[in-house]
Amino acid sequence: MAFFTHQIVRSLSLSCVRGAAIKHVTVIGGGLMGSGIAQVAAATGHVVVLVDTCEDILKKSAKGIEGSLKRVVKKKFADKPEAGEEFVQKVLQNISTSTDAASVVKNTDLVVEAIVENLKVKRDLFSALDKVAPENTIFASNTSSLPIADIASSTGRVDRFGGLHFFNPVPMMKLVEVVQAPATSQETFDALLDFSRALGKHPVSCKDTPGFIVNRLLVPYLIEAVRLHERGHGSKEDIDVAMKLGAGYPMGPFELLDYVGLDTSKFIIDGWNEMDPENPLFAPSPLLNKLVSEGKWGKKTGEGFYKHK
Ligand code: CAA
Ligand code: NAD
Repeated sequence: MAFFTHQIVRSLSLSCVRGAAIKHVTVIGGGLMGSGIAQVAAATGHVVVLVDTCEDILKKSAKGIEGSLKRVVKKKFADKPEAGEEFVQKVLQNISTSTDAASVVKNTDLVVEAIVENLKVKRDLFSALDKVAPENTIFASNTSSLPIADIASSTGRVDRFGGLHFFNPVPMMKLVEVVQAPATSQETFDALLDFSRALGKHPVSCKDTPGFIVNRLLVPYLIEAVRLHERGHGSKEDIDVAMKLGAGYPMGPFELLDYVGLDTSKFIIDGWNEMDPENPLFAPSPLLNKLVSEGKWGKKTGEGFYKHK
């Protein structure tokens, strides 16, 4: 069986010691980002429990992780398929799944949250976990756009709370933005930088400002592309081709919006618009709103700006 039950992995992970390197990781949210974070953590020898709200979602997450690992292996072990298969099995053995976050975090060094981009939902989750996680457990959010300090203040551990912002697709993208909120201790921040390096990623240090570095630049660009299209100044296909061939981007803005998720993109822009309504860069887009209201959330639902198989 590829995925262990939570009980088995739990018994393997009781050795975490205060101050020691992060070994046991709980990833909450088994969607696009959580699955990728769990995969990369497991592939670098961490004991990982992936948590979501129901078994059906976790089955989908497990399938996605297996598929992604096979793509990684096809390249990394091109000449050694047997070693590749062994690697896949080893990684999968490092991951278990659970729908019971409260019991999983009792034995974890680090919680990485990758659930829906909604402040209240994230605060409710962390506030509940804070009551059951050991004192030394570090909490981190993968939020794209929300202030880390606003999420952390739902807990009594603001010093052991930081941002770990990964990029989609996590197995391919080398960057992690490590966010130090005003109350994040240096020890916590250093542990998150070390953890990012242990995953084979390149961390950059960020302040707790809207969108950190990448999204503060990327999201207004993406929404500006939608506005350009809304004004009738270019087809989405032409805009995508233009940015790929003229600016060297791997994906055009509409392809990337579909890849990120139109729901997530809307959550980001709406949150910033609420925070700074006069800023034209953060103005909502009627077309984006329409597609989201129609359930066209991009690749994850099969249709967004484009149709996906
Ligand atoms: N898992 C494992 N391997 C993968 C993968 C995945 N999910 N996706 C791609 N690969 C690897 C595979 O080896 C794949 O080869 P196969 O198709 O034979 O398996 C190889 O990459 C090439 O993939 P593709 O042919 O699909 O296309 P590509 O060369 O364009 O690479 C890409 C794919 C890396 C995603 C590239 O298109 C890219 O970099 N796109 C931009 C992504 C980006 O900007 N991400 C940031 C989004 S913003 C964000 O994440 C922050 C936020 O908060 C919203
Ligand atoms: P997603 O919709 O693919 O997945 C979210 C998952 O969280 C779902 O499976 C959902 O069932 C689960 N979930 C929701 N509430 C939960 C709860 N209380 N407990 C457990 N699981 C819960 O979303 P995603 O794209 O993976 O984004 C997750 C987070 O990562 C968001 O904060 C988003 O802003 C951020 N992020 C997204 C991207 C991206 O490109 N999509 C990139 C970087 C960061």
